[in-house]
Amino acid sequence: MSPEIRRAAEILRAGGLVAFPTETVYGLGADASSAAAVARLYAAKGRPGNHPVIIHFSSSENAFAWGTEIPQAARKLAACFWPGPLTLILRRSAKAKDFVTGGQDSVGLRVPSHPVAQQLLREFGGGVAAPSANLFGNLSPTTARHVRDEFPRQIDLVLDGGSSEVGIESTIVDLAGGEPVLLRPGSISKAQLEEALKSKVGVKKSSSPRHSGALERHYAPKTPALLVPAYALDAEIARRKSAVAVLAFSRPDERVDYWIRMPRESRAYAQRLYAALRELDSAGCGAILIEMPPEAAEWDAIRDRLSRATG
Ligand code: TXA
Ligand code: MG
Repeated sequence: MSPEIRRAAEILRAGGLVAFPTETVYGLGADASSAAAVARLYAAKGRPGNHPVIIHFSSSENAFAWGTEIPQAARKLAACFWPGPLTLILRRSAKAKDFVTGGQDSVGLRVPSHPVAQQLLREFGGGVAAPSANLFGNLSPTTARHVRDEFPRQIDLVLDGGSSEVGIESTIVDLAGGEPVLLRPGSISKAQLEEALKSKVGVKKSSSPRHSGALERHYAPKTPALLVPAYALDAEIARRKSAVAVLAFSRPDERVDYWIRMPRESRAYAQRLYAALRELDSAGCGAILIEMPPEAAEWDAIRDRLSRATG
């Protein structure tokens, strides 16, 4: 165990805040059993107190101790996808207090696979409450640098584990109501969940305030962003009076002040997405134009994040 991981676990035990890498995005961690530590976490993020947070564990066994009436489907999904980019919402046990569940009867649990997250969670032993390590509503961080830029002071330690491999937040499946319902699409697709469960998975349509990822404008850059179909991109650039930044699959014909070319493969696109949006956001343009990604199912999670980024 590295001295840095040991120090990180000590900070968590003392009620401090540790940012750490996961395979999806960086998390801002606090001891999930400490009301004071979680209050500090919410204050640092500027997050409303009634929003539930995901609790992270080193193993399924530790995670399931925070749930109750655990359905067979949860065990199947955990066996298939943990450790990995999946969050399960289960009925909570007495361990999950109101201050981590937003007062709901359910709790969000995840076992991340990133080796640094695993080491930290094993060394700490308990559950670590960790929303994405960004200010409320902003883009999730995928590097340690993003975290430090966003929180120059409030965090006690930032563990650096390189660029997050997945790049967008975990798939969230709600099993608290019996039938599995997809709350947030992610790199683990609906088809993969259905394949593992050998049954259909519902999709949550209406936005609920309890699920902050469901807020209309969330995961968003500060610069106004707009989704534009490929065929309309050049006309939209030409129409704009102020400087524009463009995120596209190929170089626009119209002259633009700043553009980033994105991969045509969905996993590579997701991995790069938030870093690219942060870069375009800091270019100081009047707008960010984003070329609409394909309709295919493998782009579901990306289309979800882009529609929120463009609110
Ligand atoms: O990939 C991820 O999930 C990252 C990494 C750090 O693990 N975490 C993350 O956390 O995205 P956060 O807090 O930014 O988003 C968690 C989402 C929120 O939309 C929250 O409302 C929802 O999970 N959530 C947590 N517990 C819930 C519950 N009991 N019922 C419904 N939604 C819940
Ligand atoms: Mg978040």
